[in-house]
Amino acid sequence: MGDTPSSMQHFLENLGLQGSDVDLRNFAVLEVLRFTVNIYPMVFVFQKGEKHLMEMNAAFAELFELTYSPGILDTNQVLDAKPGILSLLIGTFSEKKGYLSHLHYFERIDRLVYVLVDAQIIKKDELHIGTVFIFREISNFVQLETDLLRIDRLSTIGKMAAGIAHEVRNPMTSIRGFLQMLSHDLLDKGWEKQKGYTDLALLEIDRVNELLNQLLLLSKPVEFVLEDVDVNELVKEVAKLHESDAFIYQIQVNYRLAAVPKVKMDENMFKQVLTNLIRNAIEAMEDSGEMTLSTRYEADKDKVVIEVTDTGPGVPSYLNDRIFDAFFTTKEHGTGLGLAICQRIVHEFGGHIRMTSKGYGTTFSILLPSST
Ligand SMILES: Nc1ncnc2c1ncn2[C@@H]1O[C@H](COP(=O)(O)OP(=O)(O)OP(=O)(O)O)[C@@H](O)[C@H]1O
Ligand SMILES: [Mg+2]
Repeated sequence: MGDTPSSMQHFLENLGLQGSDVDLRNFAVLEVLRFTVNIYPMVFVFQKGEKHLMEMNAAFAELFELTYSPGILDTNQVLDAKPGILSLLIGTFSEKKGYLSHLHYFERIDRLVYVLVDAQIIKKDELHIGTVFIFREISNFVQLETDLLRIDRLSTIGKMAAGIAHEVRNPMTSIRGFLQMLSHDLLDKGWEKQKGYTDLALLEIDRVNELLNQLLLLSKPVEFVLEDVDVNELVKEVAKLHESDAFIYQIQVNYRLAAVPKVKMDENMFKQVLTNLIRNAIEAMEDSGEMTLSTRYEADKDKVVIEVTDTGPGVPSYLNDRIFDAFFTTKEHGTGLGLAICQRIVHEFGGHIRMTSKGYGTTFSILLPSST
């Protein structure tokens, strides 16, 4: 670590630790090192004969879902199941060059992780003896950026959609009214067949109106009523509305509702969110499966979490970023507005919505600040 001692010295001098108190300075240096070594995932890679060896800290093991074990280990053996990080470590080590802040990402069981990697080569008597890798996780920032981009796209689409929906709604209302009058007249005259046609047309118009309502939901500003909402009650209420669907498709519904604080929400909008997620879960399973509705409270973040989990086929990871886009659908008769609306509503109330899926089954989690 060529210039580390001098920059550390500089750092400590800036901290006001100059002077002759060597003990204090050494103590501070050790504390800084201890802090860094504990906080940042690190691994030291070196070579003995043909073998690549490594020594990791507990934070590295945690980040890469490995069992932590101190001491010198065989790199190939430890990282056998992680080809991405294995080739990064060995490739960089072999190049004998360091770098700062290289972006790297990998999949964990629970999430996609983005890290910035620093590689520092270690020399002794001008000989490269190994490379230290330090990792800084930046998944939160990446997620934030993706969310912001999506919100931006959504608000443009939302504005357009709102304009169109608004313009189309009025003529639709008149058409609906005239068709209803026509339908009554036809009934009076006993023209059954023709009345059947107008009734069909009315049903289609109702479908269009429903779509227009959804488009309007996507757009700002929406009027809502803020109240303290008991999410467990709402989850049960909305799930009840889907019981018959679940029954038809042989889907077992499980509840894991914990005692959670109330959240500040518009009840009807929240019902809409739950409805969309539950419908998606049922649609994903088609016939037979399990849907689990759960709530919990994350006290450290003061967040109420509501989850809808299904045992359907899951969402392939290349679609992760697209499913929340308005009009993205993989269903023959889907409009692709369900999740865009969910996201729009949840953001409106200061919350977040996330999807996790690992090949099989999907979980949508809504995180909302508690109202306390
Ligand atoms: N629980 C789930 N399991 C698997 N895929 C899902 C799940 N929920 C959503 N998806 C995927 O995300 C896409 C978008 O969902 P979204 O609810 O926005 O629209 P949709 O269900 O296709 O149509 P709409 O909700 O407007 O009727 C779906 O078409 C599907 O590919
Ligand atoms: Mg849907």
